[in-house]
Amino acid sequence: MRIVLKIGGSLVFKDKIDVDLIKNVSKQIVSLSKTHEFLIVIGGGAIAREYIGALKDIGKDDTFLDIVGIEASRLNASLFIGALGEHAAVEVSKNFNHALSAIHLDKIPVLGGTHPGHTTDAVSSMLSEFVGADLFLRFTNVDGVYDKDPRKHPDAKKLEKISHGQLLEIVEGTKAKAGVNTVIDPLAAKILKRSNIKTVVCGKDELLSIKAVLEGKHKGTEIS
Ligand SMILES: Nc1ncnc2c1ncn2[C@@H]1O[C@H](COP(=O)(O)OP(=O)(O)OP(=O)(O)O)[C@@H](O)[C@H]1O
Ligand SMILES: [Mg+2]
Repeated sequence: MRIVLKIGGSLVFKDKIDVDLIKNVSKQIVSLSKTHEFLIVIGGGAIAREYIGALKDIGKDDTFLDIVGIEASRLNASLFIGALGEHAAVEVSKNFNHALSAIHLDKIPVLGGTHPGHTTDAVSSMLSEFVGADLFLRFTNVDGVYDKDPRKHPDAKKLEKISHGQLLEIVEGTKAKAGVNTVIDPLAAKILKRSNIKTVVCGKDELLSIKAVLEGKHKGTEIS
């Protein structure tokens, strides 16, 4: 299978860089790469939000905030370039052609953001479309997609299996702006729907057993 893996920056860098997680995940990916092709996208996490928040206070515009958020996500991505060693492309891919070329050379591409105006969720879904991925795997700081934001609504219910249309309905109201917290941003949901890309959303626990997730053993949400 060709798999696009998005790891929320929130998992990589919450209060500090989670070195053990990065090493663990990289080891799993190297092992699974014998039978699958992986493309990895890493989000911005706390470091991006710190800079975005400061620059917002300073009065900078949204495009400026996005550009700085992209830089932060690339810093997070470079952690995986380091941990994957010779298995990874030598530098963070800044566009999809670079990522696909890496695959053709048997290297694992790692990306952060690409362009201002959309989040790394959108990058991941567009990349999935561009490379014809069989699966988009998204790991985040919640254990799946809920009918509404579980951090704001204690009565939110986790959904086991939903359609792309349902996902879009759930996330449609959320803003795709630098630093917002969305389980998948609306632009990403639209792209996943138009290309009917099978998607699985899981939490941090499952990131420690990616093989099981690929075998359908997970407590997250499947979107198809
Ligand atoms: N319907 C929903 N189901 C699940 N989570 C939701 C939903 N709507 C909003 N959220 C929020 O989305 C958050 C996950 O997105 P967040 O942007 O914080 O993490 P990430 O995308 O993994 O990290 P990063 O953006 O740094 O890469 C959750 O903590 C939750 O509060
Ligand atoms: Mg996010």
